[in-house]
Order: sequence, then structure tokens, then C-alpha cells
Amino acid sequence: MGKDVIIACDFPSKERVFEFLDLFKEEKPYVKIGMELFYGAGPDIVREIKKRGHKIFLDLKLHDIPNTVKSAMRVLSSLDVDMCNLHAAGTVSMMEAAIEGLTRADGTRPLLIAVTQLTSTDQERMEKDLLIHEPLDKVVMHYAENAKQAGLDGVVCSPLEAKKVHDTCGKEFLTVTPGVRFAGGDVGDQVRITTPAKAKEIGSDYIVVGRPITAAEDPVAAYRRAVSEFVG
Ligand code: C5P
Repeated sequence: MGKDVIIACDFPSKERVFEFLDLFKEEKPYVKIGMELFYGAGPDIVREIKKRGHKIFLDLKLHDIPNTVKSAMRVLSSLDVDMCNLHAAGTVSMMEAAIEGLTRADGTRPLLIAVTQLTSTDQERMEKDLLIHEPLDKVVMHYAENAKQAGLDGVVCSPLEAKKVHDTCGKEFLTVTPGVRFAGGDVGDQVRITTPAKAKEIGSDYIVVGRPITAAEDPVAAYRRAVSEFVG
């Protein structure tokens, strides 16, 4: 599975995202479309970005009863996205139903990855709000194993967890990792961060990079820097 840099296109409107993508004359970066853009611009945004030749990670983090997730995944699959995701907390049956819904008549399907525990959830909140008393990293690995058991392709995790996920679930199990910053760059609100080069060393399969590229003075140069550090 090829390593790649995915740009988090966290823009509020279709106009802003196209203005950004128009900067790329030579490359067709892999883009992540999140809830803000998808809910604001509607499913057509996916079709239009796809038509321009980009691969798409649709980051909608589904979590509902298995039948509902299955039907929703069928719709996302028909949008021809390359990768989508859900919450592993929805249980193994929900994840199995998602795979069923995603799989097209010809047997192909987008990659499906799971969110384990959100990085905004810490040990204290997990214990107090969710009544989960196991150590956070054990919960993350358990959810990753559930995702693998359900037939998913990988998980979203911190680059710092990528090695452990590979050790637990196998080298082929994908790690898609946000929380990436250039050495000496602005950290913003991310806490546990690594550089693209370090993410490569730890074994991430895909890095998701937002503001270090989208807010850069020269986004194309920043993208190229991320690719050269991460993919080589
Ligand atoms: O701008 P920045 O590089 O921080 O963007 C990271 C992207 O990855 C954002 O779209 C953010 O929502 C997403 N993400 C994250 N941490 C997670 C899951 C998703 O930063 N645990």
C-alpha cells in the first residue's frame, strides 16, 4: 500500500476549497473532506473534486445502528470516494454492516478505517463520561483489533501510536495519522505531534496534514515538502 500525504481541506465553502486546489498545477493531492465542507456544500462537492482527479478521504465518522450505517455507507460508496471512516465504538457488528454497505456489486469498495478514541478524549473524560476504566492505550488497541476483526483496513491514530498498531494488528493494517507539523512550524491546537519525516520513521501509512499546508504562505511548496519528507 503506497504511502501518501492527505491534505485536510477544512474550508467552509466550495469556493474556498476550489481556490485552494487551483493552486496545484502539477500535482493532484489526496484530499480529506470533513463534516463542515460536506454538510455545507453537499455531496456534489465530492463528485466535483473527484472529477478534477483527486483521491478523496471522506471523513464523516459514522456511528449509528448497523442497518443505518450499512445504508449510509452504500450511498458514500456510490460517490466513489477512496477512503471513509466510522467510530469503532459502534461495535464489531456495526463495522461489519458498514463493510457490507460499502461493497459494490463488482466486489470493489473504498478503504474503510476506524476512529478508536478521539484524541480529544483523555483518560479522565473516558472514565468519568464513558465509564471506561481501562488505560486509554489499551482501549485504542482493543478498538483497533475489533476493526481488524470486522474486516476494516485500518485506523486513524496518532503517528506516535502507529508502530504499536502495526505490532498489534499487522503491518498491512493501515495507520492514517493526523497531528503532523513541520520542524519549527506552528503547532496550533495539536498536542501530540510529529514531523512528516518522523511519521515515516514510525511507520504511518498516510499522514493527514491540514493547516501546515492550507495556511502556508506557499501551500504547494509546503505540500511538496511534506511529500518529500514522508514519501521520499
Ligand atoms: O490542521 P491540522 O493539520 O491540525 O488538521 C488535522 C486534520 O485531522 C483536521 O481535519 C482534524 O479534524 C483531523 N483530525 C485530527 N485528530 C484526530 C482526528 C482527526 O487532527 N484524532
